[in-house]
Amino acid sequence: MTDTRSALTRRYQDELTVRQQQGLWRQSGDNAVAESWRNFAGNDYLGLAQDPRLVKKAQQHLERWGVGATASPVVSGFTAAHQSLCDQLCDWLGYPQAILFNSGFAANQALLFTLLGKDDALFQDKLNHASLIEAGLLSPATQRRFRHNDMAHLRQLLAKQIQPSASLIVSEGVFSMDGDVSPTESLAAIANQSGALWALDDAHGIGVLGQEGEGSISRGARPDILIVTFGKALGGGGGGSAGFSHHH
Ligand SMILES: Cc1ncc(COP(=O)(O)O)c(C=O)c1O
Repeated sequence: MTDTRSALTRRYQDELTVRQQQGLWRQSGDNAVAESWRNFAGNDYLGLAQDPRLVKKAQQHLERWGVGATASPVVSGFTAAHQSLCDQLCDWLGYPQAILFNSGFAANQALLFTLLGKDDALFQDKLNHASLIEAGLLSPATQRRFRHNDMAHLRQLLAKQIQPSASLIVSEGVFSMDGDVSPTESLAAIANQSGALWALDDAHGIGVLGQEGEGSISRGARPDILIVTFGKALGGGGGGSAGFSHHH
């Protein structure tokens, strides 16, 4: 019998050595941000994470609601505060329904796991965030990735799709690494023509684009599903997705 413990230790050691050799060795302690520094590298685009008004509000909410949700939202973890946040999201972004998550990452995972079955197809921009690509790999649907912002390639991949299974196109409003935007009008048109659903992760557009910080939807096109995070420009943590109710 092999000694699992030492076999795994050796494997991890080897993998760490490879990463070191490739210059990919990263430790979060190396870039701990000092309190007195100004941080231009983060995603707190509006400086809200340190805003005294937000800090005060958070303190008031802690006093009122405590530090933990105590249970899953389907048991007893869904409070009037969560409902109020859902309502405000719907109001602000113009959707009839919204659902909250502990992070944008979780919102993306939940979306791709729940919406698609094994006969369905998922089309993702190649530069989509890891939370989307990984969820797509684990989802029972067949995942295809189109070249970054390449609508002709997306059309080609859609055309190969065997009908009548369901298709979902997923892109980002503002891309996390390059900061460029996706052609939302074209994505909307293609989804419309092909009968696919269209989801947009606006983690980096929300709070930044538009008169009221409503993000990429301010550029005109409105996705069937909009995913947002509260952990970047909004200065907090958590995420949500908004969409149209199945009752409509
Ligand atoms: C495009 C994109 N989607 C989702 C996420 C995940 O958001 P969160 O940090 O709230 O989990 C990120 C952040 O890393 C992101 O860049």
